[in-house]
Amino acid sequence: MELRSFLLLIFIASWQPTTQNIFQNSFYTTYQRQLHIPHHKQSAKYKYETKTIDMPVDHFSYSVSDTFKLRYLVNNTWQKTYNAPIFFYTGNEGNIETFAENTGFMWEIAPEFGALLIFAEHRYYGESMPYGNKSYADLNHLGYLTSQQALADYVHLIKHIRSKSEYKHSPVILFGGSYGGMLSAWMRIKYPHIVQGAIASSAPILQFTGVTECEAFARIVTSDFKAAHKNCPKLIHKSWSVISNITSTDKGRKWLSDNWKLCEPLKNSSDVKLLKSYLKDIYINLAEVNYPYKANFLAPLPAFPVNAVCKHLTNESLAGTELLTAIHKAISIFTNYTSETKCLNLNDSTPQLDAIGWPFQACTEMVMPMCSDGTNDMFEPEPWNLDEYSKDCIKQFSVKPQPNTICEQYGCQDLSTATNIIFSNGLMDPWSSGGVLRNLSSSAIAIVIPESAHHLDLRSSEANDPYSVILARKYYRTFIKEWIKGHKQ
Ligand SMILES: *[C@@H]1O[C@H](CO)[C@@H](O)[C@H](O)[C@H]1NC(C)=O
Ligand SMILES: *[C@@H]1O[C@H](CO)[C@@H](O)[C@H](O)[C@H]1NC(C)=O
Ligand SMILES: *[C@@H]1O[C@H](CO)[C@@H](O)[C@H](O)[C@H]1NC(C)=O
Ligand SMILES: *[C@@H]1O[C@H](CO)[C@@H](O)[C@H](O)[C@H]1NC(C)=O
Ligand SMILES: *[C@@H]1O[C@H](CO)[C@@H](O)[C@H](O)[C@H]1NC(C)=O
Ligand SMILES: *[C@@H]1O[C@H](CO)[C@@H](O)[C@H](O)[C@H]1NC(C)=O
Ligand SMILES: *[C@@H]1O[C@H](CO)[C@@H](O)[C@H](O)[C@H]1NC(C)=O
Ligand SMILES: *[C@@H]1O[C@H](CO)[C@@H](O)[C@H](O)[C@H]1NC(C)=O
Repeated sequence: MELRSFLLLIFIASWQPTTQNIFQNSFYTTYQRQLHIPHHKQSAKYKYETKTIDMPVDHFSYSVSDTFKLRYLVNNTWQKTYNAPIFFYTGNEGNIETFAENTGFMWEIAPEFGALLIFAEHRYYGESMPYGNKSYADLNHLGYLTSQQALADYVHLIKHIRSKSEYKHSPVILFGGSYGGMLSAWMRIKYPHIVQGAIASSAPILQFTGVTECEAFARIVTSDFKAAHKNCPKLIHKSWSVISNITSTDKGRKWLSDNWKLCEPLKNSSDVKLLKSYLKDIYINLAEVNYPYKANFLAPLPAFPVNAVCKHLTNESLAGTELLTAIHKAISIFTNYTSETKCLNLNDSTPQLDAIGWPFQACTEMVMPMCSDGTNDMFEPEPWNLDEYSKDCIKQFSVKPQPNTICEQYGCQDLSTATNIIFSNGLMDPWSSGGVLRNLSSSAIAIVIPESAHHLDLRSSEANDPYSVILARKYYRTFIKEWIKGHKQ
């Protein structure tokens, strides 16, 4: 997470003041941190070559002829024949290495399919910066950050690969998780003549205005905690008012700062707001990575971390400082699993260069309404307010959100013409709120995995994988075989 190159750090510094908590809606801030996956060192686990391709900055006008280097990762070890299948990861909002590392499923099935593996980086993330260190400088440079441009990049790259005679008739199967899964699905919808199928895991393509209720996400988080222990979400719900109450006095703020070992003491109501949003982030993160085995995706965590957290939150009569002590123990599962955290830094979500990309996307096309009502969920009530949201976007980026663009571009309500897509969702994953949970057509299939968290199915196999995940991966193989066969005919 800390391993950013010096160049990037310089860059971030110049943006930091404007990005810190500018957004009123804390679900939004959560979301932006959330999907932003920490950057890990290249592990020894997977090996690949890193390449770049010259890419037009603007695929859709005839007035801009600038180009940039788009990065992609390649492994061609398993392909044996001409026209081998190409397994293509449609990179999302972050360094492409991270996605290559966390998509073990592609690596596992490549040998059996004799496939070429490609992981393509999303423009404006990682090292694929259209205007180098000026990419985020202003709207003239940043305006080419759209999902449409990104998909056109992937088309361009696929065409480039297929221009070699050995891949001329190669079928292309797309893979993606989360926003990457949305891109996979949209790409098959938009470019069925270029790509033959898509595995879109945990892809909330319906988390848009007028399609999905804004409360849905918060309710799923809550039900994950409820499944761990019935009193757990009740106590979390109760804790918000206890926090408000205790932090209304200097003495109380000091008590909380000392007992929770905050790096900086709480001074005023802004700090308390930050603390609450920090807690909310943690609960949402926990729900997302509630994997059945020890993992280190967003943080080092035990198996089923939500259960571990809720072990501390079972006694319904806990109140006041006793409750807050229990909450501190509970969140330590997330913040201090290694026992090495000296103090809690409420700014943990230090903006990184890439992390500016997602807020921009969320302020333009990717407007995903989120809210909580405090009755059917364990959070404080927080309405969705597009006007307020728009004001923040105009202030930060001088852009006005376009909440209908995605559904106009790719479809939301009627996707019955979609083919050869698997939409997989874990019901424990809060993002399943905006996922496709029913079959759209005879070959655009919804796979619902009751025990799965956020794109567990694309990760590498583990001994503790639930049976439903093992089964889902078997399905994917069968479908991929069919898509490849269909292409040959
Ligand atoms: C592809 O991955 C395999 C397994 O990790 C590795 O042995 C091989 O060296 C890699 N090939 C390339 C070209 O990186
Ligand atoms: C931006 O890139 C240019 C050219 O690559 C370089 O000269 C300059 O020092 C960079 N600026 C920063 C702030 O990194
Ligand atoms: C608020 O705090 C005071 C003492 O600081 C306590 O007497 C009161 O019960 C608390 N109220 C709630 C709702 O926790
Ligand atoms: C809280 O304190 C910080 C400085 O420590 C200040 O920037 C901020 O405006 C204060 N917020 C309120 C609501 O007083
Ligand atoms: C639950 O908490 C209350 C209040 O602190 C305490 O009196 C009681 O003993 C606790 N119950 C259990 C089973 O720990
Ligand atoms: C983390 O755990 C260690 C060991 O239990 C403890 O000394 C430390 O204070 C904890 N840090 C926080 C922030 O709670
Ligand atoms: C958190 O961020 C604020 C504003 O950027 C900064 O003043 C403060 O020192 C940071 N706190 C820590 C513990 O890093
Ligand atoms: C979708 O269709 C597949 C294959 O026809 C079937 O196995 C699956 O149960 C269906 N899914 C739903 C959610 O109806």
